[in-house]
Amino acid sequence: MALLPILSFPDPRLRTIAKPVEEVTDDIRQLAADMFETMYEAPGIGLAATQVDHHIQLIVMDISEEKNQPMVFINPKVTPLTVETQPYEEGCLSVPQIYDKVARPSRVKIEAINLEGQAFELEADELLAVCIQHEMDHLNGKLFVDYLSPLKRQRAREKVEKVVRQRDKEKVAVKR
Ligand code: NI
Repeated sequence: MALLPILSFPDPRLRTIAKPVEEVTDDIRQLAADMFETMYEAPGIGLAATQVDHHIQLIVMDISEEKNQPMVFINPKVTPLTVETQPYEEGCLSVPQIYDKVARPSRVKIEAINLEGQAFELEADELLAVCIQHEMDHLNGKLFVDYLSPLKRQRAREKVEKVVRQRDKEKVAVKR
C-alpha cells in the first residue's frame, strides 16, 4: 500500500475527464487500496481517481463514523430521483480548508461495478447522495468550487495555494 499525492485546485489535471474502466484488474484493485489509504490518512470521506492523477472512473468512499464501511464505485452512473435540491456544506481534499454550501438533488440512484467486476445499484440520500455527486463531478473534471461565485472561487484559489505552499514548506522541514 502507498500514500498517493493528491492534486490541488487549480491544478489543470483536475479538469481531465476520466475514462471508463474496461476490466477490473489487480492493478485497479491495488489503486483502490492505495486510494483508501490516502483518503483515510488525509482524512476524508471520498476520493476520486482523478484527484490522484489517475484518469479512470474509480471512486472510493467511506462515510461511516467508525471508518469501517469502505465503498468502491467503478464506472458509476448517477441519476437524480428528485427535482428538489438540498444545500449541504461540502469540502474537498483537493480544495483544502475551504467549505461552502452546494445544492444538489437530495436523492439519487447509483449504478456501478465493484472490485469483483459485479454490477450493483443502490438508492442514496443524505450524505451518501451528496458525496457520490461530488465524486462524480471529479470524474467529469468538475470541482465543488465551480458552483460558487467567481469571487468566492478566487478567494478559495488564493487560500488553497497558501495552504499548499505552507504544507510543502513543512514537508521540507521534516525531511531535514
Ligand atoms: Ni472532492
